[in-house]
Amino acid sequence: MERTFLMIKPDGVQRGLIGEIVSRLERKGLQLVAAKFLVVTKETAEKHYEEHKGKGFYEPLLEFISSGPSFAMVWQGDNVIALTRALIGKTDALEALPGTIRSDFAVHTNFNLIHGSDSPANAAREIGIFFSPSELVDYEHTIQRWV
Ligand code: RTP
Ligand code: MG
Repeated sequence: MERTFLMIKPDGVQRGLIGEIVSRLERKGLQLVAAKFLVVTKETAEKHYEEHKGKGFYEPLLEFISSGPSFAMVWQGDNVIALTRALIGKTDALEALPGTIRSDFAVHTNFNLIHGSDSPANAAREIGIFFSPSELVDYEHTIQRWV
């Protein structure tokens, strides 16, 4: 079983889409492992987006991600990284396939509602930035045998 770090960004929270997005992940059959409602600090944002340092959108991205509360989560399931990236859709809302979160609800790349880890290494790194090991809840997800 794989784990990923997902975070509904400040635009998703302000748009009232926490429930909608969490519902899609639940209905997919994925398992919630941890969740936290927080305002991301500039320091945490720098760690989280370190791979984008130096790019034109980096500073505005840090400002944006720290501009209001976000909803950080860890989800678990077979191939959960690829599956959640598929549910989220392409970075640019114009390229996101219909039925994806970004296609259904986002208009601009800068307001694309949700972050999803893109590799096992980044998932582990990002989970470690936002959660301590004791905050990851280990429990039997009784529907797993049917998923
Ligand atoms: P994320 O990390 O948020 O899940 O998004 P992603 O993998 O689809 O996209 P990534 O390339 O990692 O970019 C991170 C976030 O930076 C903003 N961005 N803006 N204006 C631009 O050209 C641009 N490119 C990226 C987006 O908010 C993107 O989600
Ligand atoms: Mg990314």
